[in-house]
Amino acid sequence: MLTRRTVMLFLLLAALALYPSLGVRADNGPHGGYTATTDACAGCHRAHSGIAARLLTNPAPGLCMTCHGSTAAGADTNVEDGVYTNRDGLTESPAEGFLNRGLKGGGFLNTLMDTDWDGAAASQPVTSTHTMDGTLGTMWGNGAIGSGAGQLNVALTCTSCHDPHGRAGTGGTPTYRLLRAIPTDSGAAVGVNVTDEPAKWYTVQSAFDGYFGESYGFIASQLSDWCAQCHTRHAAATGSGSTDSGDPIFTYRHTTTGFSVGCMSCHVAHGTSATMSGLAQNVAWPDGTTASGSERSSLLRVDNRGVCELCHLK
Ligand code: HEC
Ligand code: HEC
Ligand code: HEC
Ligand code: HEC
Ligand code: HEC
Ligand code: HEC
Repeated sequence: MLTRRTVMLFLLLAALALYPSLGVRADNGPHGGYTATTDACAGCHRAHSGIAARLLTNPAPGLCMTCHGSTAAGADTNVEDGVYTNRDGLTESPAEGFLNRGLKGGGFLNTLMDTDWDGAAASQPVTSTHTMDGTLGTMWGNGAIGSGAGQLNVALTCTSCHDPHGRAGTGGTPTYRLLRAIPTDSGAAVGVNVTDEPAKWYTVQSAFDGYFGESYGFIASQLSDWCAQCHTRHAAATGSGSTDSGDPIFTYRHTTTGFSVGCMSCHVAHGTSATMSGLAQNVAWPDGTTASGSERSSLLRVDNRGVCELCHLK
């Protein structure tokens, strides 16, 4: 017969089993899985002498760059140059990336990407990035069918997409790259949890830093749904290439969701050094304004329309 005490014990064990990865540090770096005596808070906050709101030692992106920047030493992921180096004084075991290989996200100042697909890569300045310094931009495609080119005057920074404290999923669960279930300013109502990696791996697989064909496994489709919380109308199911969406701008759209093609098939998340020439260089933005030259490289993984060719005509 079950006593009250065994029932309580059972409930406690069940609750512990449900508790997200107790004792496991799934979010990497100083970004979560905090213990009762953690030192991590001091990496970013001051109790009495914060120089930025939220008691920060520095506002983002500067705060993030104190560890992730080109000349920093606090993190192996150098997101400014888009490269993985061993510089934080720790020898990760198992390893978390190939040394001196390009980071999956590309870079914010330079990247190590073989965008001209010649079998070799050298560090090149970026041609397009997601803004990360709060400069106002249009969140292309954000909003319902028929709502224009997108949400105007959005200030994007690192913390729009990443939660520095980790456990960024809807139920407080860790997510891939600390991605917020609901990105800031997206207006999304329901969150998208991008499943965290069982083991961290930050670099592309290609030995020549070829970014096209990088596999994201089953999270590819979650990442598309995640990007589409901000770029709502860039999400298009199979068949959308021949079905009128009813939107005057995003009318017929390449399929971008599900498992065959996703945002990550064509785009990187941070920045690219792909170059645009000929017909690819003055494609108008969704609001009709034009850019010239490589500014319109739109975070693409390959120069010009290499991404189309590599999938359709190989
Ligand atoms: C990697 C840097 C970093 C670390 C480490 C960090 N924080 Fe934060 N924290 C931030 C940033 C950035 C914000 C502002 C977030 C925003 O504006 O969205 C913030 C905001 C906060 C807030 C305000 C509420 C919120 O969530 O926005 C609290 C409270 C807080 N942090 C507590 C802590 C504590 C306690 C620790 C240690 C257990 C810690 N932080 C570790 C960067 C960090
Ligand atoms: C005190 C140093 C420090 C600061 C400040 C810092 N990071 Fe990190 N971060 C790390 C380390 C260490 C890692 C582990 C991977 C590595 O070595 O690069 C990491 C990993 C990450 C990851 C990958 C997490 C995962 O689980 O795969 C993201 C995303 C990230 N940081 C974003 C940020 C953002 C955004 C900020 C600014 C709000 C920031 N970091 C500030 C040290 C830092
Ligand atoms: C528009 C959303 C967005 C913004 C803004 C953004 N990130 Fe990321 N970040 C991502 C996504 C998505 C990934 C995963 C990329 C992948 O795996 O291909 C990522 C990956 C990372 C990683 C893992 C290494 C890599 O490059 O793949 C780090 C570290 C990181 N981000 C830090 C930052 C910092 C620091 C900033 C601000 C300077 C920043 N991010 C701004 C979305 C963003
Ligand atoms: C098949 C390749 C491909 C896929 C998949 C793809 N894109 Fe694009 N994207 C492009 C190209 C190419 C451009 C440059 C403009 C053009 O030619 O339409 C672009 C441009 C953009 C732009 C800039 C505004 C614009 O429309 O010109 C945004 C934002 C964007 N894509 C978001 C996304 C998101 C979010 C996803 C996933 C839901 C996605 N894209 C999937 C190829 C792709
Ligand atoms: C927090 C909202 C947010 C998320 C999440 C987000 N974006 Fe964006 N994106 C923006 C905003 C705002 C702009 C316009 C300002 C700029 O260019 O950074 C933009 C611009 C772009 C552009 C055009 C960049 C250029 O300058 O050529 C592309 C392409 C794009 N996003 C693709 C993606 C993809 C792919 C993802 C998912 C990995 C994604 N976005 C996730 C807000 C977001
Ligand atoms: C990752 C592989 C991949 C990439 C990259 C890719 N495509 Fe596709 N494309 C597909 C698939 C799969 C379909 C079938 C779409 C469907 O199910 O609706 C398709 C369909 C199409 C269609 C027919 C749409 C229709 O239903 O009428 C056109 C046109 C097209 N792609 C052009 C392009 C262009 C232009 C690019 C580069 C911007 C591109 N594709 C990049 C895989 C790809």
